[in-house]
Amino acid sequence: MNPAQRPWYVTTPIYYVNDRPHIGHCFTTLVADAAARFERLLRGVATPAAPSPTAAPAPVFFLTGTDEHADKVVTSAEAHQTTPQAWADRNAAEFAKAFAAMGFANDDFIRTTEARHKEKVPRYIEKMVARGDVYRGEYTGWYDAGQEEYLTETAAKEQGFKSAVSGKPLEKRTEPCWFFRLSKFAEPLQRHLEANPRFVQPDARRAEVLGRIKLGLNDVPISRPVTDDPATQWGVRMPGDPASRVYVWIDALFNYLTAVDTPERRHLWPPAVQLLGKDILWFHAVIWPALLLSIGEELPGTIWSHGWWLSEGRKMSKSLGNFIAIEQLDAYARRYSLDALRWYLLTQGPLGANDADFVHAKFVEVFNADLANGIGNCTSRVGNMIGKYFEGKLPLDAAAAAKESRVPGYDWPALVAAAVAKAAAAHAAHDLPGALAPAGELVKAVDGYINVTQPFKVAKLAPTDPAKRAELAAILANCAEALRVAALLLSPAMPSKMAQVLREWSSTPPAGVPLAELARLDGPHSLRAGTAIAKGEILFLRADPAEAAPSAG
Ligand code: ME8
Ligand code: MG
Repeated sequence: MNPAQRPWYVTTPIYYVNDRPHIGHCFTTLVADAAARFERLLRGVATPAAPSPTAAPAPVFFLTGTDEHADKVVTSAEAHQTTPQAWADRNAAEFAKAFAAMGFANDDFIRTTEARHKEKVPRYIEKMVARGDVYRGEYTGWYDAGQEEYLTETAAKEQGFKSAVSGKPLEKRTEPCWFFRLSKFAEPLQRHLEANPRFVQPDARRAEVLGRIKLGLNDVPISRPVTDDPATQWGVRMPGDPASRVYVWIDALFNYLTAVDTPERRHLWPPAVQLLGKDILWFHAVIWPALLLSIGEELPGTIWSHGWWLSEGRKMSKSLGNFIAIEQLDAYARRYSLDALRWYLLTQGPLGANDADFVHAKFVEVFNADLANGIGNCTSRVGNMIGKYFEGKLPLDAAAAAKESRVPGYDWPALVAAAVAKAAAAHAAHDLPGALAPAGELVKAVDGYINVTQPFKVAKLAPTDPAKRAELAAILANCAEALRVAALLLSPAMPSKMAQVLREWSSTPPAGVPLAELARLDGPHSLRAGTAIAKGEILFLRADPAEAAPSAG
């Protein structure tokens, strides 16, 4: 089968609804958005208009959503004098709104309190029971309430009986529960990780997971008791045991499957890539694949666990009150444009194993270098010259220009083809900054070519010298064509600014055409003589490095 014909499914964690959306949630979902947009660009798939639970199954499918059956939802609903469901509704809407404000084009948004999810979770657990992977027992452990996670005695001791994430004391709990035979899957998981080096990424995370699996795996509780206390009644019931509810993590992990476990979407399984932060690596790289093995489902291609955003050098925490909230991100988007914010987060973010620092001064530096002085300045230079020397009409077919102008080091068809190939290869390896970089190099090449060919000098001789006029035409057609492809390659990160460039170049791509076709110089989509090239509005106005960070509100 042609690999391009296989569906491509990407997921993000589903976020706890007791928190407000912040840079971390927005980052993971942004990476998924840009990757999905890149995959759609490669295949010529249309961007979905709005997330929908019944959306037709596009060959590229991007899922995000909210995790709503956590105990802390009950606690925080109580504190706000409302019901867990009302509290979940309200905060899920906040996430959906924040994601729309970030320009995310997710195909669906799943909530674990939706019937389509709640109805299926017990069916998967029945399968696990039927396979003999679930048994009754009693669990004593240290509970990290913030993470909704049990820790073993050893792990709890190692971190001083405090949460590694929130720093709050752990609670010792003993309760009856159902266990999942995770121990049975240690060997199969180890084999899978060894045979599939890309299953857990980046490599540092893979090594970490493999190291821990080799020490052996303990069985884990997958239920919590239900009592008279209403706080214990929030969640999905264990099949056949109304006195137990499914542990929120097991409920949550299944979202990736429930969302596509319908006749229309079943073929999307398994995900090509599942994105998450390093905090929840264990659940995704060990527990989740073991659940899937138990119920006989194919495993995802890659579990990608990125690092942490810090804020001006410090870990973000409630006590420091330094979370970069959605309001702060909005303030950046208002001052510098949403696409500039997306660009900074995507190219400077903690996608690899290391953490990344959100620093205002760095934001401005990247904004000026990559955007205002980069793609922005370059398109305006080229647009202005075509306006001035050729009345805003491309003077020559780009294909003819490539043959005519032979400047050493500037073989345009080769440069453009290499940029497209490099970007596609990086995207396939889930290296998003690497997928965006070749377009930036293309823009730099256009700047370099203008410096070498000096079209403004050629233009002085063009009125009286037909050979010079032809030379000028070829130079500008080459520049415009390279920028057209650069704009396509940058569009997954900056969809609206690049749509603007393509509109000004009269080359908004028609739906259904894959990138390889769009970028071809000898095909029907390359720039033609006579194409209107508008000077257009300034894409990114140079920013003042002395200006303070924009403030929320
Ligand atoms: O853990 N930097 O939800 P959650 C980068 N509901 N990413 C960050 C971040 C930071 N500082 N802080 C958070 C849960 N994230 C569960 C998941 S999935 C079946 C259930 C991102 O609301 C990152 O993706 O605590 C991290 O893994 C996720 O938010 C945790 O979100
Ligand atoms: Mg968390």
